[in-house]
Amino acid sequence: MAANKKILFLPGDGIGPEVMRQVGRVIDWMDRRRIVTFDISEGLVGGAALDAHGVPLTEDTLALAQQSDAVLFGAVGGPKWDNLPFNLKPERGLLRLRKEMELFANLRPALVFDPLIGASTLRPEVIQGLDIMIVRELTGGVYFGEPRGIENLPDGTRRGVDTQVYTTPEIRRVAGVAFELALKRHGRVTSVEKANVMMTGVLWRDEVQKLHDADYKDVALSHMYADNCAMQLVRNPKQFDVIVTDNLFGDLLSDCAAMLTGSLGMLPSASLGAPDSSGRRKALYEPVHGSAPDIAGKDMANPLACLLSFAMMLRYSFDMKEEAGLVERAVQEALKGGVRTSDIQQAGTARVSTTVMGDTILRELDKLA
Ligand code: NAD
Ligand code: IPM
Ligand code: MN
Repeated sequence: MAANKKILFLPGDGIGPEVMRQVGRVIDWMDRRRIVTFDISEGLVGGAALDAHGVPLTEDTLALAQQSDAVLFGAVGGPKWDNLPFNLKPERGLLRLRKEMELFANLRPALVFDPLIGASTLRPEVIQGLDIMIVRELTGGVYFGEPRGIENLPDGTRRGVDTQVYTTPEIRRVAGVAFELALKRHGRVTSVEKANVMMTGVLWRDEVQKLHDADYKDVALSHMYADNCAMQLVRNPKQFDVIVTDNLFGDLLSDCAAMLTGSLGMLPSASLGAPDSSGRRKALYEPVHGSAPDIAGKDMANPLACLLSFAMMLRYSFDMKEEAGLVERAVQEALKGGVRTSDIQQAGTARVSTTVMGDTILRELDKLA
């Protein structure tokens, strides 16, 4: 039995706590089966932290996150907090965690489970067997660039500014993650920017190419403009293996990739820092979806993106490939058995609640273990 690992649970708002509850049940199952025991602590983030402490992330919670072996994050945000000043919005809590923990590499795999082929809005032959990995830069670009703000002009109008900025090391470290992943996958990287109109795009393309030529000649590298990439993702997504791109393009392209898999409720992610001298890297695992205010509190949300994010935690933070595979197979089997939350429901399948999807996963785990 492996030694205890410290996990911080940050369920957040809306459907965040609902989907994370199902992960908690799987962790209890692993504990009962003596597969692994985790030390779980829980904190508030986003709107939940605002309501309790007046800020979207407290220093104490940030410190806990820094000390954990891994963080599991639900989702933040909602209409209740939409009109707060910019720096107090729930989303700032998540952005601060990413920045302060230096989680620069966001891995967003889009994988099509066979039973869900009919749940996508795209034709089966376009998506069957799809397995792509989007590597999104997560601590730079227009999300954090200065200056930013809104100023009043003398003529009574206003001017809003955001700054897109990247440096060589920021580009190289995330490109390095993409190349390393490609070497373990199908050996192809598509680097995505808009070098035709943006200076950061020119730099991005140049630096990725240089790193490739120096250290990763065995990887097949190509470059693509971001607008074309959005189109290619729906035209012929199987042309891609690993996509590496900046913070904003990665945000957009991963939501787009989600629909290839059937639903945003299926897409997990891992946000990773650089390994330290002992090989340990800070990490936060989060479903790609948000707090889904339209279905929150109704026991309707799909918990699989969160559960698959936990599987990524087992794989990337704890090197527990077998256990990660177990969770992924339980998801596959549950879907094969025909249970569906409403976001992935098709004719001939049973529409179930979040809780019943969790029950089904536990039953499948019992069968597999
Ligand atoms: P969203 O991802 O919350 O929802 C988009 C649509 O997808 C909604 O119709 C929702 O019902 C559906 N959906 C999302 N996850 C689902 C799931 N697990 N199961 C079933 N259906 C699901 O995006 P939004 O509506 O644009 O944003 C809502 C709030 O969430 C905003 O405040 C936004 O800032 C925030 N947000 C947070 C995160 C995060 O915390 N990581 C990510 C995206 C958006
Ligand atoms: C995501 C979300 C976040 C982002 C928001 C909530 C800050 O959309 O993780 O995809 O834009 O990065
Ligand atoms: Mn997003």
